[in-house]
Amino acid sequence: MNRTLLKLRQTFIVFFITVIGFSQSDKTVIEIKNDDESPIISKHIYGHFAEHLGRCIYDGIYVGENSKIPNTNGVRNDIIDALKAIKIPNLRWPGGCFADTYHWKDGVGPKKDRPSMVNRWWGGVVEDNSFGTHDFLNLCEVLGTEPYLAANVGSSTVKDFTEYIQYVGHKEGSPMSDYRIENGRKEPWKVKYWGVGNEMWGCGGNMTPEHYANIYRQYATFMTDWTNSDGLFRIASGANVADYHWTEVLMRDIPKFLIEGVALHSYSFVEWNKKGSSTKFNEAQYFSTMQTALKMEELIIKHTAIMDKYDPKNEIALIVDEWGGWYEVEEGTNPGFLYQQNTIRDAMIAGTTLNIFNNHSDRVKMANLAQTVNVLQAVILTEGEKMLLTPTYHVMKMYTVHHDAKLLPLSFTSPSYEFNNESLPAISASASKDKDGVVHISLVNIDSSKENTLEIDCSNLDIKDFTGSILTSKNLQDHNTFDNPTKIQTTTFKDFKFKKGKLKIILPPFSVVILESK
Ligand code: AHR
Repeated sequence: MNRTLLKLRQTFIVFFITVIGFSQSDKTVIEIKNDDESPIISKHIYGHFAEHLGRCIYDGIYVGENSKIPNTNGVRNDIIDALKAIKIPNLRWPGGCFADTYHWKDGVGPKKDRPSMVNRWWGGVVEDNSFGTHDFLNLCEVLGTEPYLAANVGSSTVKDFTEYIQYVGHKEGSPMSDYRIENGRKEPWKVKYWGVGNEMWGCGGNMTPEHYANIYRQYATFMTDWTNSDGLFRIASGANVADYHWTEVLMRDIPKFLIEGVALHSYSFVEWNKKGSSTKFNEAQYFSTMQTALKMEELIIKHTAIMDKYDPKNEIALIVDEWGGWYEVEEGTNPGFLYQQNTIRDAMIAGTTLNIFNNHSDRVKMANLAQTVNVLQAVILTEGEKMLLTPTYHVMKMYTVHHDAKLLPLSFTSPSYEFNNESLPAISASASKDKDGVVHISLVNIDSSKENTLEIDCSNLDIKDFTGSILTSKNLQDHNTFDNPTKIQTTTFKDFKFKKGKLKIILPPFSVVILESK
């Protein structure tokens, strides 16, 4: 064969391989299973977290009864409405690190008589205790959400803890129920979720897991469900990220009759010691943030494997009660207040993390985004009378369709998002069927520049068509501001076709999409 012919033949082969290669790999095929055995995605996975930190409670949720800003018992009405719209299923309070310095008795009774304290973890500001247990539990009632009280173990006593449980839950005739009634609340509240300390490996007391496991056993022994309902849900302070030894010791040393949940905390960031701006970041920083965010799946798998060993019947839940993006504070704000903006990058963290939780809802029964208002990956930001909803808020709203729906497991191999010789799965997905039989598929494409084509085989589900909604923007750094609070919001998504049970979708770069069956 002469050189020209050889060259031609090689070119043809390359062309052939490229064309065939493309036709096989330019679309990602997703299998969707209609599995009767699969779990219900607990709505509590969509929980939130409000700490006495910076402007989350004061000058955030709570502006005081005398504020000009429209409020109900001091809580902003616009925040109440916004949180109701995303159906927040539970709210964790009062910390965080603050919880193990908090003495609940300082926050009940007439506000003018409440003692002050210094918030030693967050900016050293004076906490006047004007937002206390009554304020919080009444707010939960207004929101129709379940309270999750993180109680003080690090700097308090078993007596104080058990009195707290009696104060909120005992009907009448006991010292603590009488104290509550004297403070203006006749009926007990129903508080099911109790955190037994927070981050006991760190700000909760710098304990070893062995020491904490013993302390936990002691506290849990005296926790009584005074409401005579279905029992308290006791949550042990869990591991920091990949501290598998912590989970191992807790699962090994705490008897099952004393525990319902083990926590886990994991945040997403560029580098812990060099977090970078929340809005001015480059692709390398975006990529690193997504690397830590997607790590959540490995963490859940590995912590679950340890739990499976000690709890093969899956009776103890994994509770990811702190997660979210963590950057440097906004310029000019108190570094101890953790106030940061929220961009499309945060929507990517939210969408992918919630898909991970959905897909592991057999063990993950609850989670709490840190934090609700003005702190870390907030769903709401405020400035004086103004309020804005962040991209993360919109993702939370889109995903309400998965609350208490049955998981439909998916199987697929994601295309890669490549950057600087490293790669991440570009596509994240989860699906569920709600009690009315409506199927929802949530899809995220984290790629910073490439759209991805997906084909979802829905032939084993009885679906006639789909409708769609999308959250995206021109740039990853885009965010809502007080001058332009609706720059990023959910819009209708139409870039899909449904034919003969196959759903073909073109997913734009950095987008979150929800498809709903008709
Ligand atoms: O969410 C902010 C802080 O992060 C919490 O107070 C603490 O539990 C964690 O380290």
